[in-house]
Amino acid sequence: MTALLEVEGLVKHFVADRSVFGRPTAHVKAVDGVSFSVEAGKTLALVGESGCGKSTVSRLVLRLIEPDAGTVRFEGRDLLALDANQLRIFRRDAQIIFQDPYASLNPRMTVSQILTEPLALHDLVPPPRRRERVEELLRLVGLEPRFARRYPHEFSGGQRQRIAIARALAVEPKLIICDEPVSALDVSIRSQILNLLRDLQDRLGLAYIFVSHDLAVVKHIADRVAVMNLGTIVEIAEAQALFAAPTHPYSRALLSAIPVPKPRAKRSRIVLQGEMPSALRPPPGCRFHTRCPYAIERCRVEVPQLLADGTGHATACHRTAELPPPESIVPADGGFSPTLEKLVAAFSGGAEVPARAGVDIVGT
Ligand SMILES: Nc1ncnc2c1ncn2[C@@H]1O[C@H](COP(=O)(O)OP(=O)(O)O)[C@@H](O)[C@H]1O
Ligand code: SF4
Ligand SMILES: [Mg+2]
Repeated sequence: MTALLEVEGLVKHFVADRSVFGRPTAHVKAVDGVSFSVEAGKTLALVGESGCGKSTVSRLVLRLIEPDAGTVRFEGRDLLALDANQLRIFRRDAQIIFQDPYASLNPRMTVSQILTEPLALHDLVPPPRRRERVEELLRLVGLEPRFARRYPHEFSGGQRQRIAIARALAVEPKLIICDEPVSALDVSIRSQILNLLRDLQDRLGLAYIFVSHDLAVVKHIADRVAVMNLGTIVEIAEAQALFAAPTHPYSRALLSAIPVPKPRAKRSRIVLQGEMPSALRPPPGCRFHTRCPYAIERCRVEVPQLLADGTGHATACHRTAELPPPESIVPADGGFSPTLEKLVAAFSGGAEVPARAGVDIVGT
């Protein structure tokens, strides 16, 4: 079966500095050879610290920016080969919602206008039926139809995110990229939005790419998880397998910061030493070697390839076979959070602040 979305060898370097003659003199290696696929109706989570390239991948997948190399296939078709009209049709199939719904909703438009715009743009619903469709969309995201006459500033953050979700749903997409959709929301309403997204997926058969700096948030929504570090995927696996037994030292560190669901289970937090290197000058060899507790000489010179075991669990680490099993290194602050609410509440972190988001980075 063909995946809904297949991404192969995606590369995007941004010019960070130019000489006085305008020649590029420095590049940010934002995305540096990323491959993954997303099945219809499933969720792939992209996880990693702020600046690792998650939003750039999202924009590349939607062809909002052009890659330097690599391919993106949607339902088997090469997105980079689409002409303007085919691209317009693709934009119906794939939508994006952002961290800050307030910034993405026009403050001068009513909710009704915001939701009618895509219907008109894609000529989806005849004008006499549009009001009905707007009300249907509002109900779908748990808002009252009478809210249609209000403006974005009249809503709470959570309600605004619901409006942004309704706008994405207006065109009946097959894929929604959710770029940090709950990171700017109060802890108390994060789980409501996550539950809404899950419910909509079940009802509408949507696929998601769920982008987050916080592994705890993706735990209850992801089918597969890809962990990113400095523009590359270091581990990708079924969510269950990754949460039960993360193989890559970076994933282990991220995971060690999540409170343990069982009250009696103990595990120690792995505190990464040193600052996250800059994407301007990623370290040679394994890009994680400057912070990895298991680094050896080989790690400083040789780039590890992302290699899959027989179960589709892939890891980019020279020492996968030699590392201690995750249980023995994971375990000690013994927090617990049996429900999603509590799990999410444990991470009160504001938007994209890595130190609060999962990994304590000593020195930043
Ligand atoms: N338009 C741009 N121009 C230059 N650098 C960029 C641009 N967009 C992103 N970057 C850089 O690319 C890297 C990855 O950014 P981003 O994809 O936003 O990461 P994330 O979403 O994981 O926080 C960062 O170093 C960021 O500063
Ligand atoms: S390749 Fe080396 S530095 Fe990189 S994660 Fe594995 S052990 Fe650590
Ligand atoms: Mg981002």
